[in-house]
Amino acid sequence: MNFHTRKWVKPEDLNPNGTLFGGTLLRWIDEEAVIYAIVQLGNPKVVTKFISEINFVSSATLGEIIELGIQATYFGKTSITLTCEVRNKITRKSILTIDKLVFVNLDENGNPVPHGKTEITYAFAGDRP
Ligand SMILES: CC(C)(COP(=O)(O)OP(=O)(O)OC[C@H]1O[C@@H](n2cnc3c(N)ncnc32)[C@H](O)[C@@H]1OP(=O)(O)O)[C@@H](O)C(=O)NCCC(=O)NCCS
Repeated sequence: MNFHTRKWVKPEDLNPNGTLFGGTLLRWIDEEAVIYAIVQLGNPKVVTKFISEINFVSSATLGEIIELGIQATYFGKTSITLTCEVRNKITRKSILTIDKLVFVNLDENGNPVPHGKTEITYAFAGDRP
């Protein structure tokens, strides 16, 4: 899995309990995942179609550094399916998992169009094992 993006949990990211707000984390994930899909499919017109169950495994707190991991698991005809894990950068403790995020490749009119990809074709610069 590619843990490409790190985030530093700041005061504006917290919920009233003083931990990372779920909506903020989901916004970060959706953006990270769509960038991954755009790069893999080579098309900037890609939209989120489906997100499976979200498991908030543990909370993140102020000042923690977290990292967002995304990996392609299936290439359909017009869609791509990704999986996601968010974890603490230092301890590697899992914060969230999402089994499936499905993105659809669109044409200029906003209709699904085959992307022609069958496997991961682009490794992000700076990827590490
Ligand atoms: C994306 C959109 C154009 C797809 O339209 P659609 O009529 O569902 O298209 P299709 O039925 O041809 O499905 C397209 C692909 O999505 C997949 N798909 C459709 N519904 C799905 C679902 N519920 N779960 C998983 N995959 C799904 C299909 O299997 C197909 O993939 P494939 O070609 O690889 O087999 C349309 O649903 C849409 O505009 N949705 C809103 C997207 C959006 O605004 N996202 C931002 C969220 S705020």
